[in-house]
Amino acid sequence: MISKLNQSSAKEAIYYALRECRRKTLELFDAIDEATFRSQPHPEFSPIGWHLGHIAYTESLWLLEHSAGLPCLFPQYRQLFAADGLPKSKRVLLPNREEILYYLDTVRKKVLENLEVVDIDEQERLWHFLIQHEGQHCEIISFVWELVKRQQGDQATKRGISDFSSLSMPTEMVLIPAGEFEQGNNSIDALDNERPAHKVYLDAYWIDRYPVTCGQYRAFIEAGGYQNPHWWSEVGWQWRQTKQVIQPLYWCSHHHWDDHPVCGVSWYEAEAYSRFVGKRLPTEAEWEKAVSWDAKANCRRTYPWGNEEPTPKNCNCDRFIGQTTPVDAYPSGQSAYGLYDTLGNVWEWTDSWFDGYDGFQSYPYIGYSQVYFDHQHRVLKGGSWATLSGGIRASFRNWYYPSVRQIFAGFRCAFSSADC
Ligand code: AVJ
Ligand code: FE
Repeated sequence: MISKLNQSSAKEAIYYALRECRRKTLELFDAIDEATFRSQPHPEFSPIGWHLGHIAYTESLWLLEHSAGLPCLFPQYRQLFAADGLPKSKRVLLPNREEILYYLDTVRKKVLENLEVVDIDEQERLWHFLIQHEGQHCEIISFVWELVKRQQGDQATKRGISDFSSLSMPTEMVLIPAGEFEQGNNSIDALDNERPAHKVYLDAYWIDRYPVTCGQYRAFIEAGGYQNPHWWSEVGWQWRQTKQVIQPLYWCSHHHWDDHPVCGVSWYEAEAYSRFVGKRLPTEAEWEKAVSWDAKANCRRTYPWGNEEPTPKNCNCDRFIGQTTPVDAYPSGQSAYGLYDTLGNVWEWTDSWFDGYDGFQSYPYIGYSQVYFDHQHRVLKGGSWATLSGGIRASFRNWYYPSVRQIFAGFRCAFSSADC
């Protein structure tokens, strides 16, 4: 197999990426028992086991049905595992884990046979899409599992309010001078919503060097931030009242966590905290410029540190660590402007609605990005400790409703003189 694939370095790269991603997917399931596999801790997120079937279904749909013209391998799974088959709350009647693993394996064998014969120049983008699609479901599995652990009362993952406060990290900001930068990404692995790359001019602004830490966020909690509508937008306060939220979902009172980024906040909490400290959330463009623009070389970098792929030396992703790390843990991961901890660790909420760039074209189907261009979803950047490295880059865009707090999300703040 490898020898034939060697004829094309693109095929070889895809073969290894498929294998590596699948290894990480299956590794997750080593520690997941049958009950966890089937449980649905939150109605807006499918059960863990469903994601496994959906990965197989999606791979089969695009690479076997659409691309190779084969008939559907397991038509009995179509309704259950298709993205638009059943509402999330109806996805609990799953086959056994063995059956789903067999499904996954059978599809993958055929897919690798197909990789041998396809014209990869025509299809490279589709294969990259599918590898990242599997990686995205892996991350969803990670946070659904986190929710299960919390519901099972695992004390290690429960976080409560402490009795004294500290500000353990400097509240340092970086000035980003006015000027143009290049936003987005045209490379082969870029998803539809990252394209096309385009120039954007921004006035000067300040942005936090680090994500907001638990130590810093504690000051907001202890000042009664969750009880004071003054810091909240009208919609945000309504959300706070309805949900009776009094702290981040993954809050931990222990000082051990003080220099870790706050994690498990909705966009509304991020907005309220920003107002509390006299700042605001950065726009997506402000975030991306500060993370990827190299003003000296006048060009964009794929990663803040340059163009070399992520490793355990420059950021916390790929479940290398299995949890968050202190926000100053990766000096070698700094951006040209000196921002720390931008990729990995926690996703960062931005002020921007998810929307298509000028010239946007859907790929491979409008349901991937375009149906979410509804001004109801906010953009998150950077990835979390559970994001697979295939989805870790400055141009990558994630999106969720502003009320969602089950994902591994925090934020950093921005400020410009025009805000005064
Ligand atoms: C990019 C994480 C918002 O979960 O809806 C998976 C990823 N899209 N299968 C989502 C996705 C189709 C997507 N997010
Ligand atoms: Fe999917």
